[in-house]
Amino acid sequence: MSRPPIRLGVNIDHVATLRNARGTRYPDPVRAALLAQEAGADGITAHLREDRRHIVDDDIARLMEAIALPLNFEMAATAEMQEIALRHRPHAVCIVPEKREERTTEGGLDVAADANRLTGFIAPLRDAGCRVSLFIGHDARQIEAAVRVGAAVVELHTGHYCDLVAEGQGDAADVELAELRRAVRDAHGAGLEVHAGHGLTFDTIAPFAAMDAVRELNIGHFLIGEAVFMGLGPAITEMRHRMDAARV
Ligand code: PXP
Repeated sequence: MSRPPIRLGVNIDHVATLRNARGTRYPDPVRAALLAQEAGADGITAHLREDRRHIVDDDIARLMEAIALPLNFEMAATAEMQEIALRHRPHAVCIVPEKREERTTEGGLDVAADANRLTGFIAPLRDAGCRVSLFIGHDARQIEAAVRVGAAVVELHTGHYCDLVAEGQGDAADVELAELRRAVRDAHGAGLEVHAGHGLTFDTIAPFAAMDAVRELNIGHFLIGEAVFMGLGPAITEMRHRMDAARV
């Protein structure tokens, strides 16, 4: 029996980080998105943060215009971001927790604690045709809450697992991977589509690509970093190759 396909979403935020570091117009994240499209990405992910530290409003407008691939618009659950999402109606909206002082998204959303507000927040996005996903950790309570608030998708946070692998903490990484595996099963069993992402590299992709119920992996920082050495297109092609190899 053939395995369900898995999509590769390429996050282009850090092309914008580099651009903004010098206040120039280049490198252009839209150009990176077009290159990712050519190289075999299945989707483009971009996170419009409240402080606009990388992607800015005009990037979202230009991405919507320029790319044929589905856009996964990552955002915090704020009124400002909801208004922007409803204006552009991207294919997908991924709701993430956001703290000003963090360097990147640390930890997942506390859906269970914010369930009433999130239910009201998600409904108009869903009605506008956006596939809403929630970025969560492997906590079973968050999966149950994701179903209750009306999300279609959960994206599981793989960052801690990737950190443990990078630090050589194999036993702790195995424990974390087992928790993530259980969460994939629970979320899939609850009728949610399951995605995963954060911190993934050539070395950590395989176990997630190998899980049938995982339908999308979103990867940014490593691919943009690797682009410096091997080029963005080849880095994406290599990641796709490793995903396919793990899924066979
Ligand atoms: N998925 C989500 C929800 C994220 O917030 C991020 C980081 O913006 C990623 C995936 C990609 O993480 P990384 O850049 O570490 O690959």
